[in-house]
Amino acid sequence: MRRLQTADDLTDLLELYVKAERLAPASRPWVLGNMVGGLDGTAAVAGRVGALSTPADARLFRELRTVPDVVLVGAETVRRERYGPVRLDAALEASRLEAGRPVAPPIAVLSGSLDIDWSIPLFADTDAGPRPLIITCASAPEARREEARAVAEVVLAGDDSVDLGSALHQLRERGAEVVLCEGGPTLLGGLAGAGLLDELCLTLTPLMGGDPLPLALTPPGAETSRFTLEHAVVDEDGTLFLRYERDRAR
Ligand SMILES: NC(=O)c1ccc[n+]([C@@H]2O[C@H](COP(=O)([O-])OP(=O)(O)OC[C@H]3O[C@@H](n4cnc5c(N)ncnc54)[C@H](OP(=O)(O)O)[C@@H]3O)[C@@H](O)[C@H]2O)c1
Repeated sequence: MRRLQTADDLTDLLELYVKAERLAPASRPWVLGNMVGGLDGTAAVAGRVGALSTPADARLFRELRTVPDVVLVGAETVRRERYGPVRLDAALEASRLEAGRPVAPPIAVLSGSLDIDWSIPLFADTDAGPRPLIITCASAPEARREEARAVAEVVLAGDDSVDLGSALHQLRERGAEVVLCEGGPTLLGGLAGAGLLDELCLTLTPLMGGDPLPLALTPPGAETSRFTLEHAVVDEDGTLFLRYERDRAR
């Protein structure tokens, strides 16, 4: 038995996440997921994540974005949350620049249908930020692929659906060593079910009664994988901050 860890303050807590060692496997990037859920495991309230998040979790969401080379998101989350490009505050940008990295990571949207509104801020609000990526498959309508090419780098992985292993391999070939998956549950479950999730940062908010949408939707018959708890820190408001890494020994 172990007691929960304490952090002196929020900065101390965030350091536990940002400073963790993440070594990419040979053929793909290290994949970390970041999710917030209710006590009943719900991933959304009225179709959005906002009601589940707390000020400390929102800060974690922003600061974790300094870590990856690419932020990966499922198309449904992009549609529901009307995603925009990653914008870090000046101090976080400076820490990336100091480390010789681009000022912010690009967002990669994973979609089979490419049924995406190209006028959302992610594609419309591109001044100075990195060009977004669209990861799709051969069955995506050619006309939509053409539209996608006008606003993003298009990566093809798989035939009828996106082959997540191939997608990650191609991100690695483009130089990505760490990928942050911001959900949603379908994408996170796909990654976990394929054994491609290395780490999960999970915030548990003491609230019940959101949508019937679990934090991860793994495909039927997918293999299970075990994780090791790296830290558990509780905030004054009862929010629990958990970081897990996949157990390599199994
Ligand atoms: N609690 C949290 O931390 C958190 C985080 C993120 C999102 N959310 C919430 O989760 C909800 C959305 O999650 P979701 O599970 O419905 O959707 P999602 O995982 O965001 O996106 C699912 C979509 O991604 C594409 N996709 C995923 N895997 C694919 C594959 N292997 N091949 C081809 N396409 C693939 C498909 O796009 P197409 O339909 O375009 O083909 C699919 O419909 C929203 O309510 C959002 O607010 C919560």
